[in-house]
Amino acid sequence: MSHHYVKFDHVSYDYPNGFKALDDVSFLITHGEKVGLVGANGAGKSTVILHANGLLMPQKGGVVIGDVPITKETLPIIRRTVGLVFQNPDDQLFMPTVEEDVAFGPLNMKLPEEEVRRRVGEALKAVGAYDLRSRPTYELSGGQKRSVAIAGVLAMEPDVLVLDEPSSNLDPHARRLMIDRVAGFRHTCIIATHDMEMVKELCPRTIVMSRGRVVADGRTDEIFADRNLLERGGLV
Ligand SMILES: Nc1ncnc2c1ncn2[C@@H]1O[C@H](COP(=O)(O)OP(=O)(O)O)[C@@H](O)[C@H]1O
Ligand SMILES: [Mg+2]
Repeated sequence: MSHHYVKFDHVSYDYPNGFKALDDVSFLITHGEKVGLVGANGAGKSTVILHANGLLMPQKGGVVIGDVPITKETLPIIRRTVGLVFQNPDDQLFMPTVEEDVAFGPLNMKLPEEEVRRRVGEALKAVGAYDLRSRPTYELSGGQKRSVAIAGVLAMEPDVLVLDEPSSNLDPHARRLMIDRVAGFRHTCIIATHDMEMVKELCPRTIVMSRGRVVADGRTDEIFADRNLLERGGLV
């Protein structure tokens, strides 16, 4: 895949209870862009993110990663390409220890043991969680779990990194490490968040969602300067 763009093409999605969570969402993110996805609680950010690697499939429209449309058949390649960090780390961590959890993805990719060890060490150090490596995942704090979940995705060295509220529950030091690591990520990155300072720092572009729709998509500095828009988006 030469161009790791992310394309949402008129995506609509209703949850099984009939709630319309996405209503005709379209955007194109080109390779190497870092984009903030913002909006009030319930705006549809997490639903967008779950569509980025096929955990949810659009009922109308389509999602394309690089030149690969997301379908049941392409899911294995999509899952290798798009690294997704869930909003709730308890949905992500399932191995007994931190080290095993972060190694799970790389082992699944059938990488040599040496390479797995290197990636696990590097990813845990990048998020400041190396000292936790032998700890059982279930006894970690919320913030520690989040750091480990982020490390698990970094260790897979995805082409597209998708993070759902990555800074929530992180202490200032862990937040700083996470932001610096994401800043150093050379590929495409989508970050759903309420952390506007992080968006300003990391994302030249911002997409604003409200009630399942994209209500603005443009330069972060321009969007953040538009008080009316922020109010309409429930962001101030
Ligand atoms: N599993 C679900 N079943 C029904 N409705 C849901 C489900 N998950 C989310 N929703 C609803 O869809 C809307 C969008 O949710 P979500 O994408 O999680 O928003 P955000 O991440 O922006 O807070 C919300 O109104 C939420 O209540
Ligand atoms: Mg959410």
